[in-house]
Amino acid sequence: MKQMDMIYEGKAKKVYATDDPNYVIVDYKDDATAFNGQKKGTIVGKGAINNRMTNYLMKVLETKGVPTHFVEEIDDRRTVVKKVDIIPLEVIIRNKAAGSFSKRLGIAEGTELKCSTLEFSYKDDDLGDPLINSYMAKAIGAATQEEIDAITKYAFTVNEVLKEFFAGIGIELIDFKLEFGKTSDGTIVLADEISPDTCRYWDIKTGKHLDKDTFRRDLGDPEGAYQEVFKRMGFGE
Ligand code: C5P
Repeated sequence: MKQMDMIYEGKAKKVYATDDPNYVIVDYKDDATAFNGQKKGTIVGKGAINNRMTNYLMKVLETKGVPTHFVEEIDDRRTVVKKVDIIPLEVIIRNKAAGSFSKRLGIAEGTELKCSTLEFSYKDDDLGDPLINSYMAKAIGAATQEEIDAITKYAFTVNEVLKEFFAGIGIELIDFKLEFGKTSDGTIVLADEISPDTCRYWDIKTGKHLDKDTFRRDLGDPEGAYQEVFKRMGFGE
């Protein structure tokens, strides 16, 4: 498959067209941003780690009945994925209170929740990705009820699979963000990435943050945190 013109550059990835209209190539960058782009930096090696980690997890999820956009890893940083129309919702699952949930509801970080919870944010940088509910998502045409039902079901399945996977390597999955897309035939697939950029990973024994909060909160050595998760997953040894 031939890489053609760049069609989109996001905060952490570039997307290129290919000679087949059904596929695009994603190229992961080392650039890190936080607080809707207000804080900028670099996490050396992040692009390669996020690319390979995402592909690995998407392959696991496919075997558990979650369709994904993954097609083929080309190299360290680049992957062929199905071309999709992204549904403009960030789907956030939480197992423990942290981040914006703790702030908004005044619940201390690390507080156990009575059940896992799901929220939608409307994907719009200018508005700062505002929290919306499913009625609002339908009202503004972001998704249909059928799409919301499918996304919700897939997101909770992803949570069960990932919680168990990360517990197996000594990591507690606190929360994470997913994005879904629609292929040309209307199939909903998991898109975007699953990485320390988009998940909160806490070391089970020490509670140490092994994710992008190291960068957001200046906790030190984000490279080390990303590499630690990567190594525990069996990569880079
Ligand atoms: O900031 P907040 O607590 O809402 O984040 C919840 C989860 O979603 C975190 O794991 C965070 O990394 C992820 N997230 C993301 N992209 C965003 C917002 C949140 O990956 N734009």
